[in-house]
Amino acid sequence: MAGKLYIETYGCQMNVSDTEVIFSILGKEGYQRTASMEEADVILANTCSVRDNAEQRIWGRIELFHKQKQIRKDVIVGIVGCMAERLKDKLIETGKVDLVAGPDSYRSLPRLLRDIAPDKPQIDVLLSHEETYADIVPVRTDRAGVSAFISIMRGCNNVCSYCVVPYTRGAERSRDPETIVAEARDVFAKGYREVTLLGQNVDSYHWKCPENSVTFPELLEMVARISPELRVRFATNHPKDISDALIETMARYGNICRHIHLPVQSGSNRLLEKMRRRYTREWFLERVARIREILPDCCITTDVIAGFCSETEEDHQDTLAIFSEARFDYAYMFCYSERPGTLASRHYPDDVPQEVKTRRLNEIIALQNKLSLESNLADIGKTFTVLVEGPSRKSGEELCGRTPGNKTCVWRDTGQKPGEYARIKITSCTSATLLGEAV
Ligand code: SAH
Ligand code: SF4
Ligand code: F3S
Repeated sequence: MAGKLYIETYGCQMNVSDTEVIFSILGKEGYQRTASMEEADVILANTCSVRDNAEQRIWGRIELFHKQKQIRKDVIVGIVGCMAERLKDKLIETGKVDLVAGPDSYRSLPRLLRDIAPDKPQIDVLLSHEETYADIVPVRTDRAGVSAFISIMRGCNNVCSYCVVPYTRGAERSRDPETIVAEARDVFAKGYREVTLLGQNVDSYHWKCPENSVTFPELLEMVARISPELRVRFATNHPKDISDALIETMARYGNICRHIHLPVQSGSNRLLEKMRRRYTREWFLERVARIREILPDCCITTDVIAGFCSETEEDHQDTLAIFSEARFDYAYMFCYSERPGTLASRHYPDDVPQEVKTRRLNEIIALQNKLSLESNLADIGKTFTVLVEGPSRKSGEELCGRTPGNKTCVWRDTGQKPGEYARIKITSCTSATLLGEAV
């Protein structure tokens, strides 16, 4: 019983990539994509559990999907991804969900959908040690056809004490490099000009088989060699694992974008230890210095958590200080959200009051806004090669794209087409965007 398939995607880029895998698997079964929930036969949400507010949003969506079911009783509602993995039958117990499938169960979706019957919801949340969906050709969802995500590994073997990802995504496994390179070649041949290689900790990518062994810097080089016209990005690096070999590989290839996402999480050694990040602030700053030495034009972005268990004012000051010292170009900033089942939830009380978390977060945001503005001001007068993505969000007369450092850049449309490279001279900026003109 195929039909029209509608998927909403939440959470990280990994989920964007997984949604493309799901479209591919169900497309083969005859399901057609639709962008309209009202005409869908199957409504899926590919979900995130990383913070409580991510899950609250999904509970809201489930209510909305249920309204569709009340209008059209044959509609199937499914929750897939990390929240499906974490909450399992709790989702079914609402009586509003017919299907629950975890991140390693997408090959079973055709069978699960076939087996759904009234009062017979289906659930599959088995995690796998092998699944990488290596042979599945994703159905790309980037509308402009310019930029593609490619998963190079799944799962995570770190146990950062605050983090739910190892529980929702299972153990780390690397994907066969030949299939990664083939996928990148294929999208390049279809006109895409940028690929982003995705993993929770790309530095620990390691493909081992009797004939060969491939590390992340080697994989990156293989992808970069496809064509100088193909931009290569990757995320996320782990400060404890990022190697000189990686930074040196980046330096050798102009088409490997000058951007490293290096989540710091905290500037306090005491908290880094408690978070089980397995690096110190000194180590982190040394890695930043090394990147700046070998790649002076490289942008460095980060993630940070405000108000982790037992965080004192002094710990918080350490975080502000590491921001000033590292001079991040951009940051994703969050309040700590306790996740059931994690080490932190079992061992440390979530004892920083919400108003203190919020105040500290706001102080970090204010500082980062200043740093982002300074970073952007320093680009005025420079000319960047920007990959054109399409019309800017604000105005039909402007185009937008990203610099190699991953900064969004906007300029007056003088006929550049999506997927082309434009030379843009920066003339002004805000803390969020570079403004320029085509030269
Ligand atoms: N693998 C990546 C991050 C994945 S989750 C890494 O190791 O850095 C993305 C970001 O969400 C994390 O970097 C962290 O800053 C944030 N995060 C994870 N768990 C969180 C929690 N319990 N509360 C608040 N933020 C969290
Ligand atoms: Fe979570 Fe840490 Fe793994 Fe990142 S490295 S996904 S923060 S456990
Ligand atoms: Fe969220 Fe899962 Fe990604 S918890 S951040 S969707 S790996």
